[in-house]
Amino acid sequence: MFVETKALFDQSFEKKMEIEKSLSRCNRGYEVLGGQTLEAGAPPDRKEGFYIGVELPEDDPRVQAGRFNRGPNQWSSDLSGFRPTMLAYFAALQEFGSRLMQGLALSLDLDEAYFALYCRDPLATLCLLRYPPQRADVAEGEKGAGTHTDFGGLTILSAAFRSTTTKGNAGSTPIRSRGLSSVISGI
Ligand SMILES: [Fe+2]
Repeated sequence: MFVETKALFDQSFEKKMEIEKSLSRCNRGYEVLGGQTLEAGAPPDRKEGFYIGVELPEDDPRVQAGRFNRGPNQWSSDLSGFRPTMLAYFAALQEFGSRLMQGLALSLDLDEAYFALYCRDPLATLCLLRYPPQRADVAEGEKGAGTHTDFGGLTILSAAFRSTTTKGNAGSTPIRSRGLSSVISGI
């Protein structure tokens, strides 16, 4: 997943703009560096992103009805391994999320399946993010991502960290650490 994510973001700006998310009716695809400001009053977030959701064809009734965040994903034509890798990873995360919800129910002395009703046909989103090295002339209040609250029930965060300097190329250094954590965001 990390290898394919790096390959995506390492593409040229022009190539990434071919699948920019304004070309999607359901918020899928590439988001430019600084394309989001999560914290009101702060400078734009210093990150670029890529959004993937449940893959639905245009003739799916939910897509035809114009339901929020329902539709096909956008895929890079030059990355043969990206689509199968991300769809498999997305499916695994959805299964993992369902298991977490079962554990959460049990921790609340509820039936294991208590949240299952709320997890049917989920609006889950896989969001890939790359945070470039911080600039030496960083703007006042500029961050990789401003303070915000996620929507949805769970956020599962998988991160890979590279060490670098303001003069270095983060992409050329080995991944120093990886981690997986989850956050209860909107229950
Ligand atoms: Fe978030």
